[in-house]
Amino acid sequence: APQPKIAPSMLSSDFAQLAAEAKRMIDYGADYLHMDVMDGHFVPNLTMGPPIIKSLRKHTDAFLDCHLMVSNPEKWVHDFAKAGASLYCFHIEATDDASGLIDKIHAAGMKAGLAVKPKTKVDVVFPLVEKLDQVLIMTVEPGFGGQKFMEDCVEKVRILRSKYPELDIEVDGGLGPDTIDKATSAGANVIVAGTAIFGAPSPKDVISILRDSVLR
Ligand code: DX5
Ligand code: ZN
Repeated sequence: APQPKIAPSMLSSDFAQLAAEAKRMIDYGADYLHMDVMDGHFVPNLTMGPPIIKSLRKHTDAFLDCHLMVSNPEKWVHDFAKAGASLYCFHIEATDDASGLIDKIHAAGMKAGLAVKPKTKVDVVFPLVEKLDQVLIMTVEPGFGGQKFMEDCVEKVRILRSKYPELDIEVDGGLGPDTIDKATSAGANVIVAGTAIFGAPSPKDVISILRDSVLR
């Protein structure tokens, strides 16, 4: 089975100290840094864009797992690649040419991920899995950190894992020590967590709890 990758969501960090927050997470054992990009159109919130990725890249060589919650995801591929993004994950609901977009992401030198919202059926990803580096199953409605984990979404993880034993399957939203086992027992191995990590007295301990759950 694929290795665990723990990806703190930097949305829950102190943006005014982003480089230090990133370093702290890597020191605590994080594998990826999850960067939530929101455009105020695909989701009802605004966060960050390529200039922030570019600034952060100057301070770290960490894997930047960029989650694009934007309309017209085709539009930003070049800018994110140039800024130093490692993986560009777009939403299937935001494009009519997912296959072409994956090619464009790879041509720009990034890994390609595909995200599905809670109400979107998992079947839509099957024809694309061969071309993808990662699939993200949302476990909250995208837009905000700190929401409640939607348990009914894990069935999609289970279906995907049964068909694709080696795929990197990421889960995002409401994950922490109390909910993680539901996601990992269904087969998730890439774990995003914002509130549960940054809000904890010991973020390092939470990162190891999440990792141990994947390995169990
Ligand atoms: C939600 C974002 C998540 C969010 C997770 O739209 O995609 O990455 O930051 O935050 P928590 O872990 O607090 O649910
Ligand atoms: Zn996210």
